[in-house]
Amino acid sequence: MRFESGYTIGMHKFSRRTIFRTAFAFPFAGLLSAQSSEPGLRAYAAKKKLLYGAAAGWPVLRDDADYAKHFAEECNLLVPENVLKMGPVHPEPERYNFEPADYMMEFCKKNDMRMRGHTLVWHSQGWPWLKTTVNATNARKYLEEHIATVAGRYRGQMHSWDVVNEAVEVADGREDGLRKTAWLEFLGPEYLDIAFHAAAAADPQAKLTYNDYGLDYDTPGNEKKRDAVLRLLRGLKDRKAPIHAFGMQAHLDWKAFQNFKAETLRRFFRDVASLGLEIYITELDVGDRDLPDDEAERDKGVAKVYEDYLTVALEEPAVKAVLTWGLTDRYTWLAGRNRRPSGAGARVLPLDREYKRKPAWHAIARAFESRKA
Ligand code: XIL
Repeated sequence: MRFESGYTIGMHKFSRRTIFRTAFAFPFAGLLSAQSSEPGLRAYAAKKKLLYGAAAGWPVLRDDADYAKHFAEECNLLVPENVLKMGPVHPEPERYNFEPADYMMEFCKKNDMRMRGHTLVWHSQGWPWLKTTVNATNARKYLEEHIATVAGRYRGQMHSWDVVNEAVEVADGREDGLRKTAWLEFLGPEYLDIAFHAAAAADPQAKLTYNDYGLDYDTPGNEKKRDAVLRLLRGLKDRKAPIHAFGMQAHLDWKAFQNFKAETLRRFFRDVASLGLEIYITELDVGDRDLPDDEAERDKGVAKVYEDYLTVALEEPAVKAVLTWGLTDRYTWLAGRNRRPSGAGARVLPLDREYKRKPAWHAIARAFESRKA
């Protein structure tokens, strides 16, 4: 069929009005599309005085121009996914590798973004030379030197630092809930205080953060861990350690999310905030392994988890920043961890593999909009 007052070009039918409009607009097409395209998540966040960011991969930030472009468009905060961890940044006792993180800091400055550091002390991805070189006698010296050097390099430039990551593991069976790590073995529980004091001396402006996971759900395991984390935070505050923020990793999962209860999260965040700490959602992503292969259905399920979680989290005024653990499904650690039996790729982040905004992106934008100013 042909439109009475239109034209057929190939399979497409155009009314006269459309053709007129298109011709008229053509000289300004670039301008119009730039104006009508929705702003990035960073604009939604900024409207509510929040930061939105993502974990940045290396070397993709340098080598994939599309990735870098979308990063700058969507984020006003960046955290290196791996390159500031103890092992990658300090591969030998006398050698540091700052090139990737320096690049990221420059990238942030150029694009009007903040950067957060991750992480000064962790039991994982540690120094490859730890076992052969470090012992109870010299551990404090090595730890303090590491923190002075790494945090000191970006003095005055970091938004925040994850000073200690994942120090709690209830299953390790200690009364205080602390994870049995080399640092605990060498220095005792004081290693936490040592690290925070060293970080404060190296970068007095950064918000010093304790970061952990497994705290999101209304389950006995998560409840025990919340208790242990609160005890850890309270202990640091009581001893006047310089800690300013708590990082909630929030590695969520569609199936596990059936155990989410708004009131439980609200209560935990209120308890953390009552210690005078800011809260950052630091590593948000939503595992989709148990959703069907169908993309639309999967995207809907994942988006709902993002929206439900963030809407509740953002009710708490102490929450000041949200970061997803990656920006695009093209690069996500869950691709390896959450393999689907069918082999289909993970769809767990705000942008798809082609950098197209997914329902999860819109869910995050709506959650930001829901935040009371
Ligand atoms: C992950 C990275 O995404 C992976 O690339 C790496 O192989 C292992 O670490 N909690 C954290 C992050 O604090 O540093 C972890 O990042 C994910 C879990």
